[in-house]
Amino acid sequence: MAATEPKRLSLNAFSMNCVSHINQGLWVREDTRNIEYRTLAPWMELAKILEAGCFDALFLADVVGLYDAYRGGPEVSIREGMQVPVNDPMLLIPAMATVTEHLGFAFTSSILQTHPFTFARQVSTLDHLTGGRVGWNIVTSYLPNAAASLGLKDLPGHDERYDMADEYLEVLYKLWEASWEEDAVLADKAHRIYADPDKVHRIDHVGRYYEVAGPHLCEPSPQRTPLLFQAGSSPRGREFAARHAECAFVLSSRRQLAAGKGPVADIRARAARYGRNPDDIRFYQGLSPVVGGTEAEAKAKAAEYLEQLSTEAALAHLCGSVGVDLGAIDPDRPLETFDGNGMTGVVKGLLDSAPPGTRTFRDLAKANMAGQFVVGTPEQLADTLAEFGSLGIDGFNLVYATTPGTFVDFIDGVVPVLQQRGLVRTDYEPVPLRERLFGTPRLPDRHPAGQTRIEAARRRAAGRAGQPIAQG
Ligand SMILES: Cc1cc2nc3c(=O)[nH]c(=O)nc-3n(C[C@H](O)[C@H](O)[C@H](O)COP(=O)(O)O)c2cc1C
Repeated sequence: MAATEPKRLSLNAFSMNCVSHINQGLWVREDTRNIEYRTLAPWMELAKILEAGCFDALFLADVVGLYDAYRGGPEVSIREGMQVPVNDPMLLIPAMATVTEHLGFAFTSSILQTHPFTFARQVSTLDHLTGGRVGWNIVTSYLPNAAASLGLKDLPGHDERYDMADEYLEVLYKLWEASWEEDAVLADKAHRIYADPDKVHRIDHVGRYYEVAGPHLCEPSPQRTPLLFQAGSSPRGREFAARHAECAFVLSSRRQLAAGKGPVADIRARAARYGRNPDDIRFYQGLSPVVGGTEAEAKAKAAEYLEQLSTEAALAHLCGSVGVDLGAIDPDRPLETFDGNGMTGVVKGLLDSAPPGTRTFRDLAKANMAGQFVVGTPEQLADTLAEFGSLGIDGFNLVYATTPGTFVDFIDGVVPVLQQRGLVRTDYEPVPLRERLFGTPRLPDRHPAGQTRIEAARRRAAGRAGQPIAQG
């Protein structure tokens, strides 16, 4: 079973409810459905394709602001459809769940965008509706325009956003794990008792950023807490991942992995300090596959994509992500002088991968997911994925060039090879998403969510009924 075989690799498709996600500019091609993003048809088709290909999940990115750092404004982003317009990812999920049975749905939501009480209810609702197939990519936002639109004067500082996220999760764990006891719901028609009031508790959280009385408005869903994804890789981001994440989205090089450097080894080591097991976190490498029947065919396809990529939109993406206007900085300036409030993990990764004093802003401009294709025949791609697996990677978030074309090519060509090698699943167990990946539908006791659950039960057992039971 996948849950007990860590080297069984997991496949996710990476997408976003917008026109142009990562490989900027390719939306203009005839063989891609990007511009239909605002209708249900392409999403339902994609979900069915991914389930036929035995993918574990569709992973949906999101932002809640404009990328407006490049050239001092959002014009390039808007013109190029670069992550704007962008529709809400959560609202796609019920439709896709209707046409699938097993596929998981991991969506992104920023801790700045929704109050945790409301967010807890939205997620529990989705977990109920999908039978426990929901994952959440926890992000803290890096776009100042998002903060400005959400009523904050400034984007809080990089590390403070993670402090806020820690408390946001504390509130959520109390609502999801400790507010409703396991046997609170009776649904007893004969006695007209739906739920036992003695087993539904307020949380009375009072913290630095949030005050939430509770109780949670939803009864326990199959997973209670959704499967937790995270993607930050700065030192503070890694600390956050080590504490909370079950799945971490990384962009590592094989050289970095082989040397035991970079986020994977570091986050596993940090997790141990929180009393978690190294296998409690699965690492998903981002890869952008281009598959061809022959190597020459694959290379020709990739060359065509590279020709059509928009450099301007890719720069608008990168500048917004790191929070600096690369168009206004001398490209030969040492990268050590970087001072931004966005994705600092990207910059740190670059600095760590070369001797001190050798990286420049030119390297940063080149370090972009767009166009970083892994090109080859199905066997060559399977070799690459297997190599990542042998270096400690547990799964992949596959980035598309065309949608659903990239996924169709991968599923028709690479998945059968991986299946023959026993590296990916050939069918699904009918269990919630977390159980499929980790063997249990609920978070273990050693995770902070589990600790919240245990602490609440301890207080109840100590006969402190009537008092707030999940106070941190
Ligand atoms: C591969 C990858 C995917 C990400 N996806 C999103 C996303 O969809 N939405 C978002 O707001 N942030 C996203 N982020 C940003 C991170 O969640 C994090 O907030 C950011 O990297 C800053 O943290 P750091 O400096 O610790 O890396 C992503 C980051 C990476 C590396």
